[in-house]
Amino acid sequence: MTDARHIRVATDDAEYDIVVGEGVLDSCGHLLRELSTAERIALITDTSVGDMYGHKVSALLASAGFEVHAFSIAPGESSKNWAVAGELLEAMAHEGLERGDLVVALGGGVVGDLAGFVAATYLRGVAFAQIPTTLLGQVDSSIGGKTGVDLRAGKNLAGAFKQPILVISDPEVLVTLPSAEWQSGLAEVAKSAVISSEEFLDWLEANASALADREPATVLEAVRRCAAFKAGVVSADERESGVRECLNFGHTLGHAIEKVAGYGVYSHGHAVAEGMRFAARLSVECAQASVAFVARQDALLDALGLPAITERFEPDALAEALRSDKKVRSGVTRWVLVDGPGMWRCLAVADSTVAEHLEAWAAAKRSE
Ligand SMILES: NC(=O)c1ccc[n+]([C@@H]2O[C@H](COP(=O)([O-])OP(=O)(O)OC[C@H]3O[C@@H](n4cnc5c(N)ncnc54)[C@H](O)[C@@H]3O)[C@@H](O)[C@H]2O)c1
Repeated sequence: MTDARHIRVATDDAEYDIVVGEGVLDSCGHLLRELSTAERIALITDTSVGDMYGHKVSALLASAGFEVHAFSIAPGESSKNWAVAGELLEAMAHEGLERGDLVVALGGGVVGDLAGFVAATYLRGVAFAQIPTTLLGQVDSSIGGKTGVDLRAGKNLAGAFKQPILVISDPEVLVTLPSAEWQSGLAEVAKSAVISSEEFLDWLEANASALADREPATVLEAVRRCAAFKAGVVSADERESGVRECLNFGHTLGHAIEKVAGYGVYSHGHAVAEGMRFAARLSVECAQASVAFVARQDALLDALGLPAITERFEPDALAEALRSDKKVRSGVTRWVLVDGPGMWRCLAVADSTVAEHLEAWAAAKRSE
């Protein structure tokens, strides 16, 4: 095992560590036992992750003296709903889990969001830990305590802030990740670098092809850097009333693309990367970004294996999807825009300006 690094998150409500290291999964029982006197653990995973890592994690937790109750959901976003959360709560009650027990999420963002929500509501709240197994989970979703489920009206519309007591991120588990899931995580790495600092962006540019090739030391360093960046952001703003909004960079148009193209046509990461390309272009007019910055970010996304989407979307359909986004306040869409590396701001942009840019963006695709 490489040296595990402990990255501290400190919000108004809680303090906890993100432990990042190759092979750190082997220490999960011991790490959780240091923090918890629970008798039982509800180990929540999905069936794919459970088949790969569930048996090993159960055994490690049991050897640390926990009685393990394992619960599996079907993989994918369609499980992140009210009904599945209810089934998990019923099953935990049926098995007699108590107030002092612990919920552990083993999986990607879906499992983490759902298990966190279950932990926030079971017996009005029990302790919770995260073992993220996707790149997106390790660089983003496991950190910061946003938990929840989707409603028919939209994604993540019901939930709770519930900080974990520990996050255990072992990049070794990422070797089994399918390429679309890898892409989704890479887009979050790129986003973190661009909005974090010139230094992080320089590092990512220098290491983009090694990261795209999943070179282990580079993956480890990327996870550490992103975890440290997100830890800093959520420590400063747990409830997204300020600086945490920066994490939405690229997501405004990204979500609209996913919706208009049909969910699953593009990976979430591919859509976010396209959203970053668009937001950078909008930033040239509405913020202080230079054309050179736009080209620099385009080159980085290309090098990471997140190519520009060439599909010619109907600008009106995207504008309509943007209007239904959560980030619309009083009919005005808020955009995270950038002045340059590490310099971002959140601005309300008039629909007419966005429409002009969508037209220009679509026209550029037509001429490609
Ligand atoms: N809470 C937050 O702050 C936050 C932030 C970003 C995203 N999210 C949420 O995260 C979710 C997406 O998470 P995700 O991208 O991790 O998707 P996911 O949890 O659906 O996992 C993607 C797929 O990868 C599989 N998988 C997971 N780990 C694996 C591994 N090591 N090897 C092989 N296969 C593996 C899963 O079974 C699943 O099929 C969305 O619901 C999104 O809303 C939450």
